[in-house]
Amino acid sequence: MFRRNQSGGQSPNQPTLDAMNEQINNEFASAYAYLSMSAYCESLTLPGFARWLFVQSQEEVEHAMKFYNFILDRGGNVVLRTIEQPPNTFDSPLDVFQKALENEQQVTAQIHALYDMALKQGDYPSQEFLHWFINEQVEEEKITSDAVARLTLAGDHPEALLMLDNEFGSREDEE
Ligand code: FEO
Repeated sequence: MFRRNQSGGQSPNQPTLDAMNEQINNEFASAYAYLSMSAYCESLTLPGFARWLFVQSQEEVEHAMKFYNFILDRGGNVVLRTIEQPPNTFDSPLDVFQKALENEQQVTAQIHALYDMALKQGDYPSQEFLHWFINEQVEEEKITSDAVARLTLAGDHPEALLMLDNEFGSREDEE
């Protein structure tokens, strides 16, 4: 689909939109990291965790596309950047979810920094747009920290790990 304004015009909100371009990259980097975690869990024959992480990866792509569409809708320029190679070795499923939680905490800080920028610029549409992400990060941190807590409880008990794997495998695709 052809979208307007890839013609070099500068939006008055370009600094925020530039930072949102960086966030497109951050969200795709998250998607890539979750996909790598999913592959690791598949390699351990833990298909439930693998599925959960795969669905999470898809959700991160949707987050990236929300920024992509918002930038275009505001008359900004989308500039896609290189996505770094994610980690591909982990110590355990617990290590995976600890890293996932660290990633979500980092994304929360990125979203808050974007919101600060939008506030300082009096950029009301960006503030409104970012409210969804602020709420989403509360949810994402909660579900990943719950996963860390439950995997910690499971400890070295294979039966508990398999029970959790079964439960995580019931995660539905996102709308
Ligand atoms: Fe898009 Fe999990 O943050």
